[in-house]
Amino acid sequence: MAEMRALIDRLESQQMLSKEEFITLITGISIEDTEYLREKARKTAKRCFGNRIYTRGLIEFTNYCRNDCYYCGIRRSNTGACRYRLTKEAILDCCKTGYELGFRTFVLQGGEDAKYSDDIVVDIITGIKEKYPDCALTLSIGEKSYESYLKFYKAGADRYLLRHETANKDHYSKLHPPALSADNRKRCLYDLKKIGYQAGAGFMVGSPYQTVDYLAEDLLFLKELSPHMIGIGPFIPHHQTPFADRTPGTMEQTLLLLGILRLMFPKVLLPATTALGTIHPLGREKGILSGANVLMPNLSPTMVRKKYELYDNKICTGDEAAECRSCLGRKMQKIGYELAVDRGDYKP
Ligand code: 5AD
Ligand code: FES
Repeated sequence: MAEMRALIDRLESQQMLSKEEFITLITGISIEDTEYLREKARKTAKRCFGNRIYTRGLIEFTNYCRNDCYYCGIRRSNTGACRYRLTKEAILDCCKTGYELGFRTFVLQGGEDAKYSDDIVVDIITGIKEKYPDCALTLSIGEKSYESYLKFYKAGADRYLLRHETANKDHYSKLHPPALSADNRKRCLYDLKKIGYQAGAGFMVGSPYQTVDYLAEDLLFLKELSPHMIGIGPFIPHHQTPFADRTPGTMEQTLLLLGILRLMFPKVLLPATTALGTIHPLGREKGILSGANVLMPNLSPTMVRKKYELYDNKICTGDEAAECRSCLGRKMQKIGYELAVDRGDYKP
């Protein structure tokens, strides 16, 4: 349809559309026009990053969480989850393995676990940065005060991932218990940016109660926040959560949104997520071909991997880190890309 193509062309040239236009695009786009959009997104990523895919080694260091998000497998109320914590030494071991494999960014991700006090987190950050001064360190440990974020930054953390999950307050309250709010989530993201972190936001595609209207609001919110990284992936139900019987998000809609995000933010760091690889065996490859430029394979010890189960059937839980890296390297080579050995910082 000529009008749809005109809309896509304008998204590319202006890097923005109105809310109504985003809704038109997301609801009305045909398969052919989606391909047209994805090709533009892919070319944009190629122009900015060449055929190099940045990698981040993900270390899932605790699955204890004080929160109770309705979608998440490690929520507090899931008494079926087998809980674990990694010591500083175990975390440093993961970094060692990762460094040898070519990772130059480590992501410390965990539930909101009070056992890791600010002092302990600072000690872990300091330990990693002393041993690996040439590596970037990303935290993904949830909502904290400005003061805590500042302490971690001063200790050497470079980046912070905190998906906003949904920009709409009503939707937010349908995915989370009353103790959590969209406002505080957004406050955290603005604090992180203000402090100087490279900050990452993002949302699930196809989460329960999500509407196209809400998706358009997510895009508008992201434009306003202007994060350095954006993580999106399909919602996948976890059998021990209140959303066990909900319909998962689709690969098609995730690929479309990845393409839209790439056209809105040519230089943003955009991962093809594990969740996307979980709903389809070629999900991550297709994500890269829709404009994604980052992969975040798992560096957690194989012993604990299955326990960090945010959703059902998560891939790569049985593999060693080395297997994952070489497997991804092959996957990328097949579609004409290669894994970079590089911190992969945001470049304005
Ligand atoms: N399906 C897909 N993604 C999920 N996340 C949490 N639970 C699920 C699920 N069931 C995502 C959230 C969170 C990130 C770490 O993982 O968006 O921010
Ligand atoms: Fe983990 Fe292929 S990416 S085994």
